Amino acid sequence: MTIETVVFPVAGKGTRFRPATLGTPKELLPVIDTPLLQFSIDEALEAGAKHLIFVTSPDKPGISHYLEATGVAGKCEVTVLMQTEQLGLGHAVNCARDSVGNRRFGVILPDDLIVAPQGCLAQMAALEHDGHSFAAIQEVSREDTGRYGIMDVSEQVGNIHHALSIVEKPAPEEAPSCLGVVGRYILEPAVFDHLAENRRGSGGEIQLTDALEKMIGAKGLAGYAFSGRRFDCGTPEGMLEATLAYARQKPSLRAVLNEQTDMANAA
Ligand code: G1P
Repeated sequence: MTIETVVFPVAGKGTRFRPATLGTPKELLPVIDTPLLQFSIDEALEAGAKHLIFVTSPDKPGISHYLEATGVAGKCEVTVLMQTEQLGLGHAVNCARDSVGNRRFGVILPDDLIVAPQGCLAQMAALEHDGHSFAAIQEVSREDTGRYGIMDVSEQVGNIHHALSIVEKPAPEEAPSCLGVVGRYILEPAVFDHLAENRRGSGGEIQLTDALEKMIGAKGLAGYAFSGRRFDCGTPEGMLEATLAYARQKPSLRAVLNEQTDMANAA
């Protein structure tokens, strides 16, 4: 199975990466030579995507320029939409409603770089489902629950955990579990009805997590424990880890890393 439509919410300001993001959208910051957005596009195409929808903001013209320069529109349909108000991830996804139409769709948050032999979205697209929506999950440390959507689950079948509840960025003492949502989703279009309610949640924003909470009762929501390594490229630390991991895969860059390690050990 494949997923034909994928939404990329790429309107965020990237304040953690200033001043770089004053000139370059955060999704175009590179891991050595490849922008985060490119990894996401490749992952969507691997999952079978035929329609890529980018929700960006008018002050990030670099996103459209990049898409034009890569010629990705020659491989599939590309839609660029503007989120003129920054009202949260749920609002960004809801901006894509008309373009998505009444079909199951994927969401990729480029900040979460996932390196795996088979892309995370392709793994999720291949899952058997009965009208369920899926969010990728991984174990996070309790002190970090306030950075994630956190899912409480019931029974587990293979890598699939059926959700009992999901809550956006709970404090460690309130988190129902340590299963954090990372930026990959496959959603039923019914999610748009919940997003359209425009309810403000954590941080005063319209949260995708809150709409997913509403999905639990009907056809259901499940967490998918993906295979692969995830880098939180929304933080400088995660970006550095991704850069080092990428460098280790390339012989010429690995030689530089080894040299640096030797120098550090000798110092
Ligand atoms: C968003 C979601 C959150 C999820 C996270 C994954 O938060 O709202 O539920 O766990 O992405 O990276 P953000 O990182 O945009 O604050």
